[in-house]
Amino acid sequence: MTNYSETIVNPNKALWEKGDFTQIAAFMRQSGEAIVDSLGVTPQMKVLDLGSGDGTTAVPLARSGAEVVGIDIARNLVEAGNKRAAAAGLRNLKFQEGDACNLEGVADHAFDLILSVFGAMFAPKPFDVAKEMVRVTKSGGRIVMGNWIPNDPTFVSQVLKISSAFTPPPPEGFVSPMTWGVESHIIERFGQAGVPREKISLVKDTYYFASPDKTPTEFIQLFETFYGPTMNAVDAAQKNGKAAELHNQLVDLAISQNKSKDVGTLIPATFMRVAVAL
Ligand SMILES: C[S@@+](CC[C@H](N)C(=O)[O-])C[C@H]1O[C@@H](n2cnc3c(N)ncnc32)[C@H](O)[C@@H]1O
Repeated sequence: MTNYSETIVNPNKALWEKGDFTQIAAFMRQSGEAIVDSLGVTPQMKVLDLGSGDGTTAVPLARSGAEVVGIDIARNLVEAGNKRAAAAGLRNLKFQEGDACNLEGVADHAFDLILSVFGAMFAPKPFDVAKEMVRVTKSGGRIVMGNWIPNDPTFVSQVLKISSAFTPPPPEGFVSPMTWGVESHIIERFGQAGVPREKISLVKDTYYFASPDKTPTEFIQLFETFYGPTMNAVDAAQKNGKAAELHNQLVDLAISQNKSKDVGTLIPATFMRVAVAL
């Protein structure tokens, strides 16, 4: 007999397990640390990093002494995170598999801080995500999200826009992750979770993708080979003979936005920083 629970594919999980996000995350460590530095984390705190990947922010959170749990839907990234935590000797950091839409097994009001940098925004049920983040945060605690902004002219928004132009349309009812970068949606989602407008702050901030020795073209090749949303665009473009067109658009974008003065990559990208006080 078939065990259906094992054969049903969760497309959200499949998308992030398809590639190897650690290859992109290697460019994200500096800005991840800068965000953590700005949060005033203390050793007494319990912190949940949601959509933690391999620990771009969870590792520096743990270095500040807090008790940190990273939850991510992708099994390969949970494994990579636990390897990084072990290599760094961080016994106060563990990664586990879970879904931001339903944090079953996580107790109510368990954390002082929920941090989700370009993580929970990719979960398919945004109202459930807001409700779950509020549920697991202590009274007096905080939720901080970093979310990409739709139609923004900077790098990631444009990579996702170009990628989606080469990908078949999503199924009906699909809610774009980019809506997490729009004020009205953010307010509505946290509002339904019981958070009044005055408890929510929204500020645009800049994230940097940085590498001293990888060129912008090499950076794009990593997106094409390892980043789920771009890999899907490449697969579709290859089928209709448009792979070179897609590649050229992405390379032009990366080169035009690169601020590095030598061979490396330094690409800024604007994001919406959301802070919710509970
Ligand atoms: C763009 S990556 C960012 C990873 C990490 N926060 C960082 O800054 O390097 C998005 C992450 O969100 C995770 N993710 C996507 N959907 C999720 C969900 N429903 N629940 C938990 N994690 C999810 C992906 O597996 C991936 O690790």
